[in-house]
Amino acid sequence: MKKITKVIIPAAGLGTRLLPATKSQPKEMLPIVDKPAIQHIIEEALLSGIEEILIITGRNKRALEDYFDRAVELELLLEKQGKEELLQAVRDIADIPIHYIRQKEALGLGHAVAAARQFIGGQPFAVMLGDDIVDAKTPCLSQLLDVYGEYGGSVIGVQPVPNSQVSNYGIVNPAERIKDAVWRVASLVEKPPAEEAPSNLAILGRYIIRPGIFPLLAKAKPGAGGEIQLTDSLSALARKEKVFAFNFSGRRYDIGSKKGFLEATVDFALKDPQLRDDFQRYLSKAVKGNHT
Ligand code: G1P
Repeated sequence: MKKITKVIIPAAGLGTRLLPATKSQPKEMLPIVDKPAIQHIIEEALLSGIEEILIITGRNKRALEDYFDRAVELELLLEKQGKEELLQAVRDIADIPIHYIRQKEALGLGHAVAAARQFIGGQPFAVMLGDDIVDAKTPCLSQLLDVYGEYGGSVIGVQPVPNSQVSNYGIVNPAERIKDAVWRVASLVEKPPAEEAPSNLAILGRYIIRPGIFPLLAKAKPGAGGEIQLTDSLSALARKEKVFAFNFSGRRYDIGSKKGFLEATVDFALKDPQLRDDFQRYLSKAVKGNHT
């Protein structure tokens, strides 16, 4: 089977749940400890063997492109100050092979992915949503690629969510359970009301998709929220060819929400060897209300 080398990262969303912080800067650039959220996602892609990254951007997203560009003045300064480690970190970021396409109108995730058709060029590819950070021992995308390697069809990363949350997600209607964590998908539905949801298996921002999706996206009609939904075209794809849902291991954070953003910040800080001890002490005092 041909190796999957390309990923699409849709990052054109307006970040309305984090306004006003996202009024003039992309939510993907908000830092989770010391790295912008998108860098966490790109590192997962690179660790999973991805070689080329396409970010779908929109208006107000220039900071993303600047971040992955060279920073000549900063590099000179760090060099002069002998800050070798920081210099290397800054240079490494600019070496990542990234391409950009602008989604000119916010018409939905399906519309954003459709814009990548030429870049993808008829091969299976990965999609990673810029809102979803997954902390896992084996990178989440790498887990999906293993399932793809075993079964061949498109693979959607899912996890069960409480019933009260199913209306926030794309939800799987499973046809049959093939293995502990793998289902063959009969269909999918975007953000169903809880009482109509076919399961509680929610799509959480990681996909391996076969190129058969593109003709379906090209004729897709607006779905939930009046947007062209990737979920609807994946559902159409499941009627034509094999699509699997895979319950990946790891903790997923919705960093487009205030709660998810804060949870990621706290958990990643507690994992940082240089911050952990002090920060833990601070937190335990803070929750008792006597941190001043
Ligand atoms: C998108 C997808 C949805 C998925 C979710 C995961 O929705 O359309 O199927 O469950 O991401 O984060 P959004 O959160 O962009 O509304």
